[in-house]
Amino acid sequence: MLFECDQWKVERVSPVIAANFDAFLSVTPTHNTVMEEKRRETSTGSLVFAINGLRFEVSSVSPSTTLLEFLRAQTPFKSPKLGCGEGGCGACVVLLSKYDPVLDQVEDFTVSSCLTLLCSVNGCSVTTSEGLGNSKDGFHPIHQRFSGFHASQCGFCTPGMCVSLFGALVKAEKKDQREASPGFSKLTVVEAEKAISGNLCRCTGYRPIADACKSLAADVDIEDLGFNSFWRKEETREAKMSRLPVYDHSLEISTFPEFLKREIKSSLLLDSERYSWCKPATAEELQSLLKSIDADSKTRMKLVVGNTAVTISKTIEALKEENNSEFNSECKIVFKRIALHMEKIASEFIRNTGSVGGNLVMAQRKHFPSDIATILLAAGASVHILTGTLHEKLALDEFLERPPLDSKSVLLNVKIPNYAAVKNISSEMDSKLLFETYRASPRPLGNALPYLNAAFLTEVSCLKSSAVKMVKANVVPEDGTPSPAYRSSLAAGYLFDFLFPLIDTSSKIHGGWSGEYCNTSLSEDAEIKQKYSQLDHVQLPTLLTSSEQVLELNHDHHPVGQPIKKIGAALQASGEAVFVDDIPSPANCLHGSFVHSIKPFARVKDMKFKSKLLPDGVSGLVSVRDIPKGGENRGCTTKLGTESLFADGLTQHAGERLAFVVADTQKHADIASNLVEVDYDIENLEPPILTVEEAVKRSSFFEVPLSLYPKQVGDISKGWAEADHKILSAKIKLGSQYHFYMETQTALAIPDEDNTMVVYSSNQCPEYAHVTIAKCLGIPENNVRVITRRVGGGFGGKAMKAIPVATACALAAHKFRRPVRTYLNRKIDMIMAGGRHPMEITYNVGFKSNGKVTALQLDILINAGISVDISPLMPRNILSGLKKYDWGALSFDIKLCKTNHSSKTAMRAPGEVQGSYIAETVIEHVASTLSMDVDSARNINFYRYDSLKLFYDFAAGDPAEYTLPSIWNKLAASSSFKQRVEIIKEFNRCKVWKKRGISRVPIVHQVFMRPTTGKVSILSDGSVVVEVGGIELGQGLWTKVKQMAAFGLSSIKCDGVENLLDKVRIIQADTLSLTQGGITAGSTTSESSCESVRLCCEVLVERLAPLKETLQGQMGSVRWDELICKAYTQSLNLSATSHYSPDFNSMHYLNYGAAVSEVEVNLLTGETAILRSDIIYDCGQSLNPAVDLGQIEGAFVQGIGFFMLEEYTTNSDGLVVADGTWTYKIPTIDTIPKQFNVEIHSSGHHRQRVLSSKASGEPPLLLAASVHCATRAAVREARQQLHSWGCMDESYSTFNLEVPATMPAVKELCGLDSVESYLRWEMGRKSRLG
Ligand SMILES: Cc1cc2nc3c(=O)[nH]c(=O)nc-3n(C[C@H](O)[C@H](O)[C@H](O)COP(=O)(O)OP(=O)(O)OC[C@H]3O[C@@H](n4cnc5c(N)ncnc54)[C@H](O)[C@@H]3O)c2cc1C
Ligand code: FES
Ligand code: FES
Repeated sequence: MLFECDQWKVERVSPVIAANFDAFLSVTPTHNTVMEEKRRETSTGSLVFAINGLRFEVSSVSPSTTLLEFLRAQTPFKSPKLGCGEGGCGACVVLLSKYDPVLDQVEDFTVSSCLTLLCSVNGCSVTTSEGLGNSKDGFHPIHQRFSGFHASQCGFCTPGMCVSLFGALVKAEKKDQREASPGFSKLTVVEAEKAISGNLCRCTGYRPIADACKSLAADVDIEDLGFNSFWRKEETREAKMSRLPVYDHSLEISTFPEFLKREIKSSLLLDSERYSWCKPATAEELQSLLKSIDADSKTRMKLVVGNTAVTISKTIEALKEENNSEFNSECKIVFKRIALHMEKIASEFIRNTGSVGGNLVMAQRKHFPSDIATILLAAGASVHILTGTLHEKLALDEFLERPPLDSKSVLLNVKIPNYAAVKNISSEMDSKLLFETYRASPRPLGNALPYLNAAFLTEVSCLKSSAVKMVKANVVPEDGTPSPAYRSSLAAGYLFDFLFPLIDTSSKIHGGWSGEYCNTSLSEDAEIKQKYSQLDHVQLPTLLTSSEQVLELNHDHHPVGQPIKKIGAALQASGEAVFVDDIPSPANCLHGSFVHSIKPFARVKDMKFKSKLLPDGVSGLVSVRDIPKGGENRGCTTKLGTESLFADGLTQHAGERLAFVVADTQKHADIASNLVEVDYDIENLEPPILTVEEAVKRSSFFEVPLSLYPKQVGDISKGWAEADHKILSAKIKLGSQYHFYMETQTALAIPDEDNTMVVYSSNQCPEYAHVTIAKCLGIPENNVRVITRRVGGGFGGKAMKAIPVATACALAAHKFRRPVRTYLNRKIDMIMAGGRHPMEITYNVGFKSNGKVTALQLDILINAGISVDISPLMPRNILSGLKKYDWGALSFDIKLCKTNHSSKTAMRAPGEVQGSYIAETVIEHVASTLSMDVDSARNINFYRYDSLKLFYDFAAGDPAEYTLPSIWNKLAASSSFKQRVEIIKEFNRCKVWKKRGISRVPIVHQVFMRPTTGKVSILSDGSVVVEVGGIELGQGLWTKVKQMAAFGLSSIKCDGVENLLDKVRIIQADTLSLTQGGITAGSTTSESSCESVRLCCEVLVERLAPLKETLQGQMGSVRWDELICKAYTQSLNLSATSHYSPDFNSMHYLNYGAAVSEVEVNLLTGETAILRSDIIYDCGQSLNPAVDLGQIEGAFVQGIGFFMLEEYTTNSDGLVVADGTWTYKIPTIDTIPKQFNVEIHSSGHHRQRVLSSKASGEPPLLLAASVHCATRAAVREARQQLHSWGCMDESYSTFNLEVPATMPAVKELCGLDSVESYLRWEMGRKSRLG
């Protein structure tokens, strides 16, 4: 939607038509290089380009081929990954370099290779992360720093991050005016942070990535950098600097090879029969090309501007050019504002190729909600259009209102007027021109379409109350715009903000957003600022401020307990780490793509391709009919139930798998799956069950086995009797969340001899996939082998949901007798993933006048979807998180509703996060009812050990293990909680349009240890190879296992064991090599895998001990390699397997932690900025504090996504519509806490736990509720203010802040008409004052 400001603008701005021409934004595809001056060729040409210094020549290619497709399919360079395919994630970023032979200059810029067409890189050089450095030639300092700052977990985003940073470094190095000190680049800290603002990471939480980037910046204070493996905290600044991997900018790699400089060809035309690619060099040439196309009615043309014209980035640079004396100061202000706004469009790597012209044409043709159109409209821009020989110059608003631009018309340029000539208000008045632009987006730095963008240009002389009237101007969004009331109110807010300085010049106004209007004296404000500066640094210009990580190292079980770097982190950074889709395709490999249902409940009468001929490259369709004799329609098998692979005649939810199209390439398969026509029939069928209420009405439930159903606690009638107050039938609704692992679901199935099948699967439980594939194919389990090396992020989504993907590949491979692989595109992945369980909760709570709860009774309806998945575990998990407070007595009824939605599945802290949130909502409700401080309400409901034992039974452990009270108090001190509460009160009293909130939240989270297997083998040279059932998902499992193997074997106590860590290699999980691996889930698999390895080591040490004694006796001492060599000659069995199965006492334990978060809510937009979060989390005796720190930060940020940002929406049939990066917004670097302090609390030794360690993968996610609660506190302040303006009644403090607390949700609670309310109040106040 474009903000309807033009009417107003016309009124206020002097005519721009008479303006001199000043700014020229050329949007035509013109070039000025020799290469490009050579004219368009019409003969067959080849593309010639370089990748990482290697020459590539391509003679025939479809112009729609993207650079990413080429890189991944035709070259050995797999570091650019496919994360989204739509420019929204940065996983595919590469550096593109162009050479200008006239100037002998190389221009380098980052691009998203998924959107860059291969044809457009002719004559260019491409650098991927492998090209920066690699394991053979040596890693680049960027790789080393990512590794050393623990900035890579699963590693799927890491190569893209590294190249984004490299692009920023290269750009900075070219800025001559700056100086870099030795070891540092010319990059600034601000640039370093921004460099990766368009890249998504789902694992790390970004803080360590930001540190790795900042470590290269010229202006970095080394003391501000976070925990890393380079230095110890207490070392001097100089020592620290000397430990960083050296970055020497004078030795930077050449991005453009000499051979290509010599060889550059001028132009190309491809020889594809159906498409041709032309590269006109001038507007005239384009014109004649258009004419020739015009003569041929069958030819359709698309103008691809890509990286060949005035890109948004270049426009920004031009507009920021300060030395340009041609322009007057008013123009410069307008240019600067436009440039600043443009810097928030998409991401750097999109702006580097996206053109202003393409953007405006998209806005014109498709009503694309363009920022550029809006800001240029307000700036009074005009455009120049060429159609055939007809040149037209017209105002931008006229252009936008025209019928869609003909595909043969070209937008040649855009003019911005000279404002000196524009000023039109009668000359006797001293007028000035004001220009401002606005953008309300879930991500402050961009990479998200705005809810609303707006820009205002006005010439003012004297404006007072007339401006107020304008605020009430009618701003009506277009029909069908989501959250229309919110967007209208945003528009009013922006107009208010723009005009605010003019309303009353006597008001105290400070610069910056929303005028920072303050109705107290300036000195008071300064006082607040000073108080704040003592406590935090939120006012700094950088995105993130220095954060603290506090961790204690445990040396008892060396090298266990050491914060060693994640195994393979540098390999992940360089992109050499092999994920399933990086495995080269075997000969004759086919690719599959799912066809899914769009109906929730219907008969599938027929399914066929639209045309009679099979689409390009398609081999066929695999469906339920292809299940072999003896096989079953099985997509998933677990101990809790099964799921079908394909719908069998009847589809039971939108998004259900109907078939699997198999083709020669993934692209062909994806295209063909959209060409399948499905004939549905719903005659005489019951309507689908799409709500939990409907499920209850129709008694559609899944059974929860008694053994899994949690027990009620205490005597509920007694609890009710003790209560002084009761809240009855309060309701909460919680939605779903998508995992957004960066690597989507993927598998490769290879049929082998004797009816066997090898399947490479990105999977959290290969064992279950193994069983399912065997069942589906009707073959014995020993005919199947499932191999998983690493998973590019799982978060629960690759537990059950990866199994049907692997099974479909196996079934297709079985049918076609050829290897079959798939890599789901993001849209299909999002449609099929299921996500977190949505639920509806009704609660009754009884409590005393001091806030102590005496009874809590809950009815919870969980939407489990169509099949059972892990849903029977949900009641237990919900209660695990919910019981964090002493409720006196607790009773509940939890129903698992079977609905016609995709089956909901495990997602990091499944159930626990909802349970923990429900607990906070109840406490907040109690506090607001009693008008008491929420923190006191929390305090009074804390457990004593005896009540903890009552609620958690045997999981409560010993009294000494109950560390929550000490964590709670320690956090209050370390976060200066009480002082900040007071300062925030002051802030809120003083500020009208910004309110802050702070909240301290505890968690209790029960985990369950599961059995798993391990195998340790010592090879003849003394090196060690380890296999474990647990899967490396990025959570650092392999790293902990490696440490444990080194520790376990070192108890042989011979020379050289101190270096065992370097000798251990963990290898991929293989379900035939190591059976009974189990499932990697529930945060405890690292511990159980470590324990199984420790058991293996015990056996090996026992076997080796007698020999060692003998050798020691003979030689005085013995080295590890000598011992092993001798053991081999004596045929000792140096391979041991174990199956760890926890006993009753070590099966369960509780995790504790607490967080304080402070937020600032902008009342005009509803935007919430997280100013600071402090966490203390108990890791027991951490197995690896660096890994655990990463888990804590990453989980917390994923929790921020759940509580604040991510809306996994469906249509009325239950089909997911938030199906890509355009609509689904996970946290980015600009939405995490600006200051993020984490302390790992080391609680005592405990023999029942694995070397006294505790889990860290999931529980910290629950702590993100502190951000939501702090937002709630800020919103309460806003509502209290509305109340004080007489616009809200006494119930202002009772409200329900949705999850996620998105900008529209927050704004709605803060008053959609708050501007009008304020103005009414202000006018009333003034009239009262006379
Ligand atoms: C992930 C992502 C996020 C984005 N976020 C934003 C955002 O927040 N705000 C925003 O405003 N934009 C946003 N964009 C849009 C981005 O700015 C546009 O993609 C870009 O400007 C289009 O330029 P292009 O050169 O790639 O156009 P193309 O895709 O090459 O062209 C678009 C259309 O215009 C035609 N065309 C191009 N140039 C001309 C011309 N000179 N004359 C006639 N026809 C022409 C083409 O033939 C094509 O039909 C985003 C894009 C992506 C990928
Ligand atoms: S895959 Fe290219 S930006 Fe996401
Ligand atoms: S490490 Fe960034 S997505 Fe996994």
